Amino acid sequence: MEDNFQKIKKIVEKEENCTDAGHNMEHTLRVYNMCLKLAEDILGCDLEVIKFAALLHDIGGQKEIQDKSGKTDHALIGAKMAEPILKEMGVSDEKVKHIQDCIVSHRYKTENQPKTIEAKILFDADKLDALGAIGIARAFVWVGNNRAKIYYKPDNLDEYIKENLCDGKMNGRIQDKSKHSFQIEFETKIKFIVDKLYTKKAKKIGKERTEYFKKFLDRLEKEVKDKMYYNQDNSIKLKNYGKYRNNARKKHTKRFVFASFGNSYALLVSSKFRNLAVAIHKLLFAD
Ligand SMILES: [Fe+2]
Ligand SMILES: [Fe+2]
Repeated sequence: MEDNFQKIKKIVEKEENCTDAGHNMEHTLRVYNMCLKLAEDILGCDLEVIKFAALLHDIGGQKEIQDKSGKTDHALIGAKMAEPILKEMGVSDEKVKHIQDCIVSHRYKTENQPKTIEAKILFDADKLDALGAIGIARAFVWVGNNRAKIYYKPDNLDEYIKENLCDGKMNGRIQDKSKHSFQIEFETKIKFIVDKLYTKKAKKIGKERTEYFKKFLDRLEKEVKDKMYYNQDNSIKLKNYGKYRNNARKKHTKRFVFASFGNSYALLVSSKFRNLAVAIHKLLFAD
């Protein structure tokens, strides 16, 4: 297996060469690790199938990205690409079929649900990589690649879903990625991932990672929304002008009063009414 592992790693690395930091070999190896971690608790699962499926699960990723029509499904094409690689390594036909089934059903948005325990483990491991700190890091790689928004919460989420997600569905493909944000992605997809997981251990990890993701988004919102003088469409919030002016006026008046008082006080101290100044000082600052 070690030999085969290295051979497959090289093939996959080449295929995933052009993909971004969120979907490259590092992602594949994290999924591989997580698969083995989840499998520790499950008796009787086929580790060879899991290892091959994990390594090959995103081999079709580049093909999906290159097809601008949006019709290529990297899970389906990946399963096809895996077949000759596995056969050349002497993997039995039965196992090849099983590994292909795992690859086909690893996607979140798919009608092909994972049926075997090996497929469920791969599905769970892949989804966990979209949650927690690693999920946040991958989210912002996606934001950068797609010139999307670091912070954006539409006033009306239903309206946004209708306008920018295919068929007006929450899990529909994003039409204009530059209008999208991870505040929207969390509300339409990420917070539901944990309910879709199959294995007990993945659910536990997923719950904790989802909470961490939410905490990060809340903090991000707090920082961004702390006194906003513009709307999210970048237009200036006119109603805030009045508030801004009033605040400025108040501050100005306060400063003026203190400055005047300070000046009169200083004048008093240096004048012949020094005794009066001392009396005022005692009155104001005596213990
Ligand atoms: Fe994938
Ligand atoms: Fe993946």
